[in-house]
Amino acid sequence: MTINEDQFPLPYNSSDLTGQVALVTGASSGLGRRFARTLAAAGAAVAVAARRVDRLTELVAEIEAGGGTAVAVELDVRDAAAIAGAVQRAEDALGLVTILINNAGIPDAQYVTRMPLELIDSVIDTNLRGPFVLSAEVARRLIAAKRPGRMVNISSVGGFSYSGGGAALYSITKSAIARMTEVLAVEWARFHINVNGIAPGAFSSEMMDGMIARVGDHSAHFPRGRYGDPAQLDSTLLYLCAPSSEAVTGTVIKVDDGQGGR
Ligand SMILES: NC(=O)c1ccc[n+]([C@@H]2O[C@H](COP(=O)([O-])OP(=O)(O)OC[C@H]3O[C@@H](n4cnc5c(N)ncnc54)[C@H](OP(=O)(O)O)[C@@H]3O)[C@@H](O)[C@H]2O)c1
Repeated sequence: MTINEDQFPLPYNSSDLTGQVALVTGASSGLGRRFARTLAAAGAAVAVAARRVDRLTELVAEIEAGGGTAVAVELDVRDAAAIAGAVQRAEDALGLVTILINNAGIPDAQYVTRMPLELIDSVIDTNLRGPFVLSAEVARRLIAAKRPGRMVNISSVGGFSYSGGGAALYSITKSAIARMTEVLAVEWARFHINVNGIAPGAFSSEMMDGMIARVGDHSAHFPRGRYGDPAQLDSTLLYLCAPSSEAVTGTVIKVDDGQGGR
């Protein structure tokens, strides 16, 4: 058995993303906005996608002012027919997408028996169907170009444990995203497309503001008495996107500040 230590610098942990092109969905607020800025700061050119284009335009200006490269891509991930076009627009502007962050997501915030079909469809289409179709589109292009890629899917600790309170379908979709991460990692390992996930606990964002407005601030119940800051996900994101993490695939990392049980 040969160990090619000489091929690898010590330590082998660079997260320099120069030359990579990232597509981040749900980049108009919250975690996605931070993910886009973090990837740009690490050297990637970033296509930022969401429905609120004014927010994306501001983010692009901010990234460019910091010396980065970015482009805004309007996309409603529920509209599967629009997904290929959005990836094409990102590619036309920045080149082949090599990093996909499936971050766009919505809560259900409703008891199962009170959910209208439109809400059921919207939660499933945003949190699961959209990411699945988008992953397939990005993978198709990487495979055709014979290029390696990285995908990071944003699940939730709520996909692993549920204690009631009107987030049942959200939990189901986030559990499915974790499973999608595992099976697509297996499916595309041979193409050197790594698929991993992050399952955050409760982090400050617009979605969390909405939850606090509905059920109150529950951070006092957490062992550390706080919500996470999106910046505390930077290191996990970069770890999963780093060229040196080439052997890490099919993993979902829980980052919850010790808020929940196991
Ligand atoms: N914050 C937390 O504590 C927490 C915990 C666990 C998991 N998460 C997950 O983290 C991800 C980001 O959530 P967040 O907390 O940052 O919430 P957020 O601030 O509400 O951001 C959600 C983002 O998703 C986008 N989005 C929603 N529907 C979309 C659609 N149909 N098409 C395209 N983009 C859409 C929104 O952009 P537009 O409205 O402009 O389209 C927005 O940029 C979600 O998947 C969420 O489930 C969050």
